Amino acid sequence: MRTIWRTLGCLMTLAPLPALAAPPAPAGDAARGRALLLQRQDSGCILCHVLPGLPQGGDLGPPLSGLKRRYSREALRARIADARLGNPDTLMPPYFSTEGLHNVARAQQGRTVLGEQALADIVAYLLAEPAYNDGRR
Ligand code: HEC
Repeated sequence: MRTIWRTLGCLMTLAPLPALAAPPAPAGDAARGRALLLQRQDSGCILCHVLPGLPQGGDLGPPLSGLKRRYSREALRARIADARLGNPDTLMPPYFSTEGLHNVARAQQGRTVLGEQALADIVAYLLAEPAYNDGRR
């Protein structure tokens, strides 16, 4: 019996997962993204990152500037959605994943920290033209 379940489990992992074929990401709004990046409770980004155009942030993570040169929109979204993909031991919380988390408060179980729209808004700010987010306010 156990073997059957194990085999089924493997097959399910190998089968294409249509549910995960994400719908096109919503268009992001850089101004909303800026507001989200600033929030200490909902996103917390500024606790660990210095962000161009925003008040002084923390330095647990690298400064988030010049990302436009290194990331496509999709790659940046993926990086923020689940930083563990790039570094399994990362300090950065997985913002759009509910997998493999420990000690999650009951009310938060099965919920991601950020929604798809919020993620798109944050990416829009981080990829905005330098004139918008180069440190001038
Ligand atoms: C607890 C600290 C922490 C928080 C909170 C955090 N990060 Fe990070 N972040 C890191 C660290 C550390 C790295 C360095 C690489 C790694 O370990 O993943 C990083 C890396 C990144 C990178 C890659 C930077 C590069 O130069 O390639 C991006 C983009 C990023 N974070 C965005 C965000 C955003 C957006 C938020 C908020 C939604 C956020 N981070 C919240 C700690 C944090």
